Amino acid sequence: MAYRGVLIGCGFFARNHMAAWADIADVDIVAVIDRDPARAEAYARDFGIPRWGSDAEALLAEVRPVFVDIATTVASHRALVELAARHARLVICQKPFAETLEDATAMVAACAAQGVQLAVHENFRWQRPIREVKALLDQGAIGTPRWLRLSFRHGYDIYANQPYLAEVRDLALTDIGLHLFDMVRHLMGDAVRLSCEVQRRNPQVAGFDAFHAVLRHGSGAVSSVECSFHSQRSPDPFPQSLLVVEGDSGTIEVTEGFRLRLHRPGGVEERDVEPPCPVWGARPWHLIQESVAAFQAQLPAALSGGAEMEPSGAHNLQTLAMVIAAIRAGDTGETVTL
Ligand SMILES: NC(=O)c1ccc[n+]([C@@H]2O[C@H](COP(=O)([O-])OP(=O)(O)OC[C@H]3O[C@@H](n4cnc5c(N)ncnc54)[C@H](O)[C@@H]3O)[C@@H](O)[C@H]2O)c1
Repeated sequence: MAYRGVLIGCGFFARNHMAAWADIADVDIVAVIDRDPARAEAYARDFGIPRWGSDAEALLAEVRPVFVDIATTVASHRALVELAARHARLVICQKPFAETLEDATAMVAACAAQGVQLAVHENFRWQRPIREVKALLDQGAIGTPRWLRLSFRHGYDIYANQPYLAEVRDLALTDIGLHLFDMVRHLMGDAVRLSCEVQRRNPQVAGFDAFHAVLRHGSGAVSSVECSFHSQRSPDPFPQSLLVVEGDSGTIEVTEGFRLRLHRPGGVEERDVEPPCPVWGARPWHLIQESVAAFQAQLPAALSGGAEMEPSGAHNLQTLAMVIAAIRAGDTGETVTL
């Protein structure tokens, strides 16, 4: 018996969710919902889904899914997660999880009260290069990690597919910063304090489209996290995150063109960590699309009593707290204790 799921939010990015669910044999999306019924209908037609509509409450009660995948923009998340928690055993919520810690904490509590698993769709830590770096760190390939630089700088026109981003004040921190902070926590452990400088680089957008944060981790390690949506490079590395991690006995680098280099006293090993392009995917998005598939592939095990999907809503509270702290640090120049 396949796990019956419902997707809410039939916009730009959820097409990747739908294509990835179709590749998982144990999953059956039985209904799609959008507040705009024409969008839901188009998804139902394109992906062969039997039920569609705009009334989430009624449709969830009717189809009784095992899980709900919420792919709407952030302002709708709390109400939809609280609704889904009354109808399913597992809820997935796209990032940004919430605009405030109050909303995020309420969603975690609503799911916990019903015994429902809650995961946040933080797919960047599931990108193939990051999976490979994490495995090397866990194997002790460079000893204890002491310093990291994570950099997401490009000039790709993100506003063409996501025009709403041009109006967001803390754009770089809330759109990509939280992915980067989740990746850094995943690789280096939790941070205890941070400072952050923000910039508005593109005069056509309303908000801060660049930031540079410096983190101190509980382990004593230090990380530099950078993001810019207005950097001219040729070829443009979008959507790759470039990375260097230095440990006591070696260094790992991920450079443009998906090259991973492991530097150790005996020399350098280099390998290709480019993910395959899903049949439904397209370059340069294949890095993101394959990570969506890897994130969603956790679901059958999570529903059959195995490990919970990562990261959970509870885990994501600290990532959201870091974004909120970085916004404050950018506004005031303070170093914020987490
Ligand atoms: N993880 C990633 O790599 C990644 C990439 C891009 C976007 N995103 C995130 O995905 C989310 C959606 O982004 P998008 O670009 O697809 O946006 P979008 O505006 O294209 O799509 C959102 C859809 O949700 C619907 N919607 C909004 N509120 C609703 C509600 N209350 N009930 C039902 N439907 C509702 C809208 O009508 C729209 O069709 C955002 O939070 C964005 O940050 C994540």
